[in-house]
Amino acid sequence: MDVSGLAPIEQTALLTEYCRALDSRSARPILGDSHADATVRRIDHDFASLGATPSVVALVALRAKMLDECLSRFVAADPSAVVVDLGAGLSSAAFRVDPPPTVDWVNVDLPGVIGLRNAVVPAHERVRDVAANVLEPDWVTAVPPDRPTIVFADGLFAFLDEDAVVSLLRRITGHFPSGVVAFNDYGRVSKANQVIGRLTSSRNANSPHRQWNFPGFKDARQPESWDPALRLLDESSAMHRPETAQFPTGLRIASRLSRRVPSIARKARVLQYRF
Ligand SMILES: C[S@@+](CC[C@H](N)C(=O)[O-])C[C@H]1O[C@@H](n2cnc3c(N)ncnc32)[C@H](O)[C@@H]1O
Repeated sequence: MDVSGLAPIEQTALLTEYCRALDSRSARPILGDSHADATVRRIDHDFASLGATPSVVALVALRAKMLDECLSRFVAADPSAVVVDLGAGLSSAAFRVDPPPTVDWVNVDLPGVIGLRNAVVPAHERVRDVAANVLEPDWVTAVPPDRPTIVFADGLFAFLDEDAVVSLLRRITGHFPSGVVAFNDYGRVSKANQVIGRLTSSRNANSPHRQWNFPGFKDARQPESWDPALRLLDESSAMHRPETAQFPTGLRIASRLSRRVPSIARKARVLQYRF
């Protein structure tokens, strides 16, 4: 499958899927998503150019595992729940989480990615794909607002600007009756950090660092001030997880340091808010 027609922002889905594929090929995987490997093998692309360093692979795999755990807990507590994956890319999270048959799962992404998904990711009986721009108001109307809902985003918010993230959060809490919003986060990312990221990352014009837009925030309670319907439920850092023992050396040292330097822990956190 050729992906040269994807827009640069859509191409960001290739790196995260490739990272999970590489993780699954390793002797001691963190996530162990064999679907990701199968998906990547169906795509004709120079994946080696994407900058999937061992540290990026470990962090992408671990944050997916942490988000999977949030989803599993939510659907176990309420098997009538709906799961919405915003900026779902090529992710096989539904296969990994394997929710009860009463759960509905909706993947939302831009049309080019949904088209590619349909070609390379196997269908799942409880999953529906919606081709939409999450910055437009109408994607929510594709998901009925009558059941507790967990809306999650793995790797999406970094590409939106702050106003877009605020509007998106308000749209979620305005539409769904109750539930959880969960997403990965990098803490505050200064303009200088963003520029350094661009300069030091892959030279590929479609590198995710070149699409970075979100300045982020330090205090995990910040989204509560953007949307009073949100209450912080949990802030967890990948840097504090037992899987850090499987990290490459430099990242393992950073994870040890993160116990004393909270700004390092914030660089790889998963946040959850109840509404
Ligand atoms: C880094 S990828 C992550 C994909 C997937 N969540 C994963 O873990 O592999 C970011 C995804 O967000 C999608 N995306 C970015 N901006 C979007 C928007 N405005 N509306 C819908 N999807 C968007 C991209 O197309 C891409 O699939």
